[in-house]
Amino acid sequence: MTTALPLTANFKSTDPLALADVDHVRLYVGNAKQAAFFYAHAFGFTVQQYRDLTTGSRDEASYLLTQGNIRLLLTTGLNAHHPACHDVAHYGDGVRDIAFTVQDATKAWEQAVRNGAKPAHEPMELKDETGTVTLAAIKTFGRCVHTFVSRRGGYELGKVKTGGTFMPQFAKVKNFGPNDYNRQNPCGLECVDHCVGNVGLGGMNQWVQWYSDVLGFSLFKHFDDKDISTEYSALMSKVMDSGAGLIKIPINEPAEGKRKSQVQEYLDFTENVPGVQHLAFRCNDALETVAELRRRGVDFLRLPDTYYEKVWQRVEGEMHANVKEDHDRIKELGILVDADDEGYLLQLFTMPLQDRPTLFIEIICRRGSQSFGKGNFRALFESLELEQARRGNL
Ligand code: FE2
Repeated sequence: MTTALPLTANFKSTDPLALADVDHVRLYVGNAKQAAFFYAHAFGFTVQQYRDLTTGSRDEASYLLTQGNIRLLLTTGLNAHHPACHDVAHYGDGVRDIAFTVQDATKAWEQAVRNGAKPAHEPMELKDETGTVTLAAIKTFGRCVHTFVSRRGGYELGKVKTGGTFMPQFAKVKNFGPNDYNRQNPCGLECVDHCVGNVGLGGMNQWVQWYSDVLGFSLFKHFDDKDISTEYSALMSKVMDSGAGLIKIPINEPAEGKRKSQVQEYLDFTENVPGVQHLAFRCNDALETVAELRRRGVDFLRLPDTYYEKVWQRVEGEMHANVKEDHDRIKELGILVDADDEGYLLQLFTMPLQDRPTLFIEIICRRGSQSFGKGNFRALFESLELEQARRGNL
């Protein structure tokens, strides 16, 4: 089993772009108060802190949701001129920022800009009696940015992880019923495993190069580092790796296929502006996690029973994985399984989280395998064909 290795404890590096942790993932949403309730109820996040009119924030409201080492920040604008309102109107609810904790945000930002990044905003310091948070951001694909975050004093990430205040102007949420329920019924999500960007035709190699040049990521050399392009799935993807087990960022672009590419469908609903297609959260017990999420009403992609007629032969017969989880239970819960030469993984995808067919969440549990379930692409479509054949429609 692998775990993410955030480096925040005693983190020291001479490289200004050494990333210590995924500080937070910020989503721009139409109504952060209601979205917080949704992510708390459906996915078991603790609604831990907030910043709004009552804490002195005049133009936006934000809620910090936490689970394991995942920090989601849900932000909504309080007037039409706020960038969140613009983005939600044009692209819908979605990921704005994958923010990284670094030792010195100003130095990281300066280095990234020297490496060719376009600035989103210059370094700014938020300071009060508790400590200091420095934020500086660069633009990445489409609607998204990466903010570098450095923290001093009471705002150090280690303190935030144990319940400390997230940033100036944030206040602790008290007496929120779903938080008590979640403590008693945990969903077991541990960290952000990967975060996938959808870009336009011809954009994939450009952004792969960008992650290499600007942030020093490397192309993930692995079982499925080749382009994924089948006549059905009709997308191409390359995976960029931050190193140190922190995060991977696959970049998808549409490809010609028998059906409209899922990437193009996404772009059709974002005015062709690239953005995050899915966030993958890692757990360590896929059966427990998926069972709990299903109890809570999370809507997962359904696959036909025929998938399970082939999956064990593929994963255990051909790939020699020894899947220790109860096979019947895996089928009952509709979980997908894949393997590579290092081990296996269990994964499942939610339906889109909003009415636009854009952002969704993946649940992934790794048992040695570091890949992304490429084997499921074909298996899924083969299963669908089998069903079609049974109905006489192939
Ligand atoms: Fe994924």
